[in-house]
Amino acid sequence: MNVIATSVLFVLLFEFSSGVVSLKSHDVRNYLGTRTPYRFRYNKNDSKIKYPQCNDSKIWMIARHGTRLPSAKDIVGMNTTLKDLKFEILLAHQQGKGDLSKEQLQQLQLWSSDLDPDKEKYLTREGQDEMILLAERMHKRFPNAVKHNYDNQTFLFKYTATERAQQSARYFTIGLFDRKDAQGVIFAPTTKIDPILRFYKHCDRWQKQVKKNPITYKEQYIFGHSQQMNKTLAAISKRLGLSHVLSLDTVNLMYKICGFETSWSKYHMSPWCYAFNQESAEKMEYYHDLKHYWMDGYGHDLTYRQACLAIKNMFENFSSNQGPNATFLFAHSGTLLKILAHLQLYKPDQPLRGNTLLKDRHWKTSHIDCFASNLAFVLFECKEGDHVLALHQEQVIKLPMCKEELCPLKTLLEYFYDSIYNCDYSDMCSLSNEKIAK
Ligand SMILES: *[C@@H]1O[C@H](CO)[C@@H](O)[C@H](O)[C@H]1NC(C)=O
Ligand SMILES: *[C@@H]1O[C@H](CO)[C@@H](O)[C@H](O)[C@H]1NC(C)=O
Ligand SMILES: *[C@@H]1O[C@H](CO)[C@@H](O)[C@H](O)[C@H]1NC(C)=O
Ligand SMILES: *[C@@H]1O[C@H](CO)[C@@H](O)[C@H](O)[C@H]1NC(C)=O
Ligand SMILES: *[C@@H]1O[C@H](CO)[C@@H](O)[C@H](O)[C@H]1NC(C)=O
Ligand SMILES: *[C@@H]1O[C@H](CO)[C@@H](O)[C@H](O)[C@H]1NC(C)=O
Ligand SMILES: *[C@@H]1O[C@H](CO)[C@@H](O)[C@H](O)[C@H]1NC(C)=O
Repeated sequence: MNVIATSVLFVLLFEFSSGVVSLKSHDVRNYLGTRTPYRFRYNKNDSKIKYPQCNDSKIWMIARHGTRLPSAKDIVGMNTTLKDLKFEILLAHQQGKGDLSKEQLQQLQLWSSDLDPDKEKYLTREGQDEMILLAERMHKRFPNAVKHNYDNQTFLFKYTATERAQQSARYFTIGLFDRKDAQGVIFAPTTKIDPILRFYKHCDRWQKQVKKNPITYKEQYIFGHSQQMNKTLAAISKRLGLSHVLSLDTVNLMYKICGFETSWSKYHMSPWCYAFNQESAEKMEYYHDLKHYWMDGYGHDLTYRQACLAIKNMFENFSSNQGPNATFLFAHSGTLLKILAHLQLYKPDQPLRGNTLLKDRHWKTSHIDCFASNLAFVLFECKEGDHVLALHQEQVIKLPMCKEELCPLKTLLEYFYDSIYNCDYSDMCSLSNEKIAK
């Protein structure tokens, strides 16, 4: 298909409503989890956000890097497992088996992969665009806090020591400033141990009690080995015309590549998505959400408690007359999710378990943790004192501890007193005074 034909198809496939690109509910692209592209989620309304007798004066924003390439392991999987599977599926359909349509088979026939494993997890072109456009919209919404002219005292940009976070920061500044300014931006030096951007990475106690603790993966394991997962694997294999049942690993690889490839291109859906229907995509989404719930979310108290290190930095910056007025931090899904949980956002009504799929859970990474997902706090100086506005994925949100969207800074400082004053890294994270995990 040529570009024009695909664009027409694109418009037909999507509905536009309330500023967000929205897909029909049965579309598998609603269930891509942490590989959901940002173009499905961001707030298209970039009008200036103003409140009477208030000025937007500071901003503190943390973003997950934009759309990236898969891990080296998955890149190799594409070149081996999926290449073989492609031929198996095509052959099965030639023999009259399987449910894929003629057009789907044509797309699959055209599919190939030649990614270099050395470029694992690199930011993609689409990821660059996500950052450029995000910066432009944030400037339009908050022109006073996010100025168009660069000044090394006003702006602070920082990223983790990874290619994807570094490039995300770079393209964000390209979106914000004109060419000359963007070239002169000074980025804060990266540090191996970064207690703000990746507080969990060197939190030894968290590493031991959560990340490396088999209990963290228990519910995901239960779901992965449940009867309903078995049925899903069988249904997917049948849909593809195979006479044997695919393993969870292989189906998981297809699911991940479906997400990645769909994210990379605005006008193209990965043919690996054809393996799924709404039901099976929801199962794979839940399988991953279980892990993120127990590893990055509400599953363990320490997981989100340590996010005080980031929250504290925001409040310190907001309470000071000095320091940067515009802070932009570029990090990872693991950082964002833990901060969301620290703020008590998207908490499901009950813990996620492997034996039942909670369909209407608030904790759904497809919605809250897409590529380039971001959280911004904007300080408004008002006649009636300082206020804070929070935005998640550019949408204004009401924080659970506030009555209104525009929340008095004082209310937040009281609520987060412990996060600010009792946030001691070594106390929380050292193994020497280890407390029993919750
Ligand atoms: C866009 O955002 C502005 C500022 O928040 C708001 O006043 C306006 O109603 C919004 N427009 C639409 C169409 O939602
Ligand atoms: C907002 O800023 C403008 C210009 O900088 C100033 O005239 C106005 O008094 C400020 N308003 C408040 C409520 O601080
Ligand atoms: C993919 O596999 C083929 C052999 O099947 C190999 O020749 C090629 O180098 C591989 N490409 C990458 C990028 O690994
Ligand atoms: C910051 O900008 C000022 C001029 O605006 C310049 O004199 C100074 O050298 C810059 N600081 C750094 C660290 O580059
Ligand atoms: C799921 O399938 C595997 C392999 O086919 C089998 O060993 C296991 O008993 C099944 N589990 C359930 C709960 O049906
Ligand atoms: C603001 O935050 C940055 C890091 O994000 C930090 O280097 C700076 O010291 C903070 N400034 C104040 C005044 O808290
Ligand atoms: C930074 O914010 C402070 C306090 O809100 C304000 O007084 C100052 O003018 C701002 N600086 C710039 C360069 O906008």
